[in-house]
Amino acid sequence: MITIAIYNLKGGVGKTTSAVNLAHLASTAKKNTVLWDWDPQAAATWYFGLDDGERKAIRLLRKGEPFGTLEIISPFPNLSIVPADLSLRQFDTDLAGMGAARRFMRQLIKPVGKNTDILIFDCPPTLSPSMEFLLSGVDLMLVPMIPSPLSLRAMHQVTEFFQEQKQPPRRIHGFFNMVDMRRSIHKQTLESAKLLPLPVLKTLIPMDSAAEQMSEMRAPLTSYARAGRAATAYRAMWKEIARVLRTKAA
Ligand SMILES: Nc1ncnc2c1ncn2[C@@H]1O[C@H](COP(=O)(O)OP(=O)(O)OP(=O)(O)O)[C@@H](O)[C@H]1O
Ligand SMILES: [Mg+2]
Repeated sequence: MITIAIYNLKGGVGKTTSAVNLAHLASTAKKNTVLWDWDPQAAATWYFGLDDGERKAIRLLRKGEPFGTLEIISPFPNLSIVPADLSLRQFDTDLAGMGAARRFMRQLIKPVGKNTDILIFDCPPTLSPSMEFLLSGVDLMLVPMIPSPLSLRAMHQVTEFFQEQKQPPRRIHGFFNMVDMRRSIHKQTLESAKLLPLPVLKTLIPMDSAAEQMSEMRAPLTSYARAGRAATAYRAMWKEIARVLRTKAA
């Protein structure tokens, strides 16, 4: 199983949009894919037309319920979702009292590996202990960035934090989202991307109204706007990610 976390400390940079579309693309490549929604906002869960209903994510985490009790089959073949809900916000308080919190997180994820090729985490814009432990175990942490100073600052904070950790994610790559080359700040930022402290994917995800429509469609844009600019870019990005991971995931 390959684990990918979409993470940035900055909010609103396209983590959920990217997690939803990359998970959909992985599943269309006939990979058994799980999208694990780790954000109490539960936007990824919602984008798939799913609601958490009576399922409480915290049950899985706190009471050690088997992973399968929370996994929901999505409307798309080969793709299931582990939904989030507001109960997740209590999780860090619980984790604080746990001696082997890092090991607990690994154990939590382990059962997913039995039937899963690709596990994608949609992360909240926080660096809580659970986030730290989750990210430290992933094969790839993908950091979406809008080409703007605040978004880059958050990326610097995240990169520096993990440089100082004994167990950083196996790989950390950035990518640019909501790119509009007509804006001079976007152009300048991209021109100086070589100077950033992390490798940056070549594929740029452009500004595309298809992304905003996701909340009306409640589906990945790669399913309803396949010929659009963002969908085309996400397909190219998924191939690039597969090369980074040296897998035939695409
Ligand atoms: N390529 C794009 N073009 C246009 N709008 C986009 C694009 N990607 C994302 N958006 C829009 O930007 C907003 C933020 O995106 P998203 O929710 O994916 O960010 P996020 O990083 O997950 O936010 P949060 O930190 O709140 O979880 C949404 O309204 C989304 O529709
Ligand atoms: Mg989000």
